[in-house]
Amino acid sequence: QREAPLKVMISGAPASGKGTQCRMIVEKYGLVHISTGDLLRAEVSSGTEIGKKAKEYMDNGMLVPDQVVTDIVVSRLSQPDVREKGWLLDGYPRSYAQAQSLEIMKIRPDIFIVLEVPDDILIDRCVGRRLDPETGKIYHIKNFPPENDEVSARLVTRSDDTFEKVKSRLETYKQNSEAVLPTYSDLLNQIDGNQHVEVVFNEIDSLLQKICENASAKMLANT
Ligand code: AP5
Repeated sequence: QREAPLKVMISGAPASGKGTQCRMIVEKYGLVHISTGDLLRAEVSSGTEIGKKAKEYMDNGMLVPDQVVTDIVVSRLSQPDVREKGWLLDGYPRSYAQAQSLEIMKIRPDIFIVLEVPDDILIDRCVGRRLDPETGKIYHIKNFPPENDEVSARLVTRSDDTFEKVKSRLETYKQNSEAVLPTYSDLLNQIDGNQHVEVVFNEIDSLLQKICENASAKMLANT
């Protein structure tokens, strides 16, 4: 038994595999997955005021203003399920200001994971990505094709997954990621994301296992 639930941040360029790995992490560890991209897309598709504001930035591959995203994340982090099960923050913080907002509230992860993938691979992954709106499952036309025709018929492409938009999203990532890393330098773990999904997951899994074991050992020592 852990003293406190696991708190994980996962970062990486567009299509580095964050969403794919998060599904696997959630399945094994039961953490609450908080993806700012998913939360913003939900606002856009519901046509809320936040969604209307965010859409313009997302369509241009730019970061949505810090305050908008931070408000969404902080409100989600304060829900009781998060305190009980732990959290997996995907795609946040993405700027120095966002990292500082969490620091001020003393919200820190146990680990900060960065998935590293070369640019040409990222572009191919984005352009080939398809999503199942019914299950939320992530596919790729070559790497992970759908299981059958029924799934295939309902797959959708994200509006920001065109070649041009991916290039600007990648540029935005490069401009901002360096600013976030120093805040988490003591918790940083870079993982080669250009390996088979199961191999990437095994590496993440063993890091998370270690954190759980250390926490249990500490708890035992204190009893
Ligand atoms: P967001 O939704 O977070 O997009 P992103 O960071 O660009 O990341 P992606 O969702 O594109 O990729 P992923 O890493 O999850 O990869 P996936 O697993 O799907 O953000 C969208 C927008 O919202 C931003 O541009 C911004 O405007 C806004 N936003 C979000 N957060 C914000 C914040 N904090 N502040 C301000 N604005 C914010 O995989 C990709 C593809 O590769 C799939 O097809 C998959 O099947 C395949 N794949 C995955 N892993 C592998 C593997 N190991 N081998 C082969 N193929 C693989």
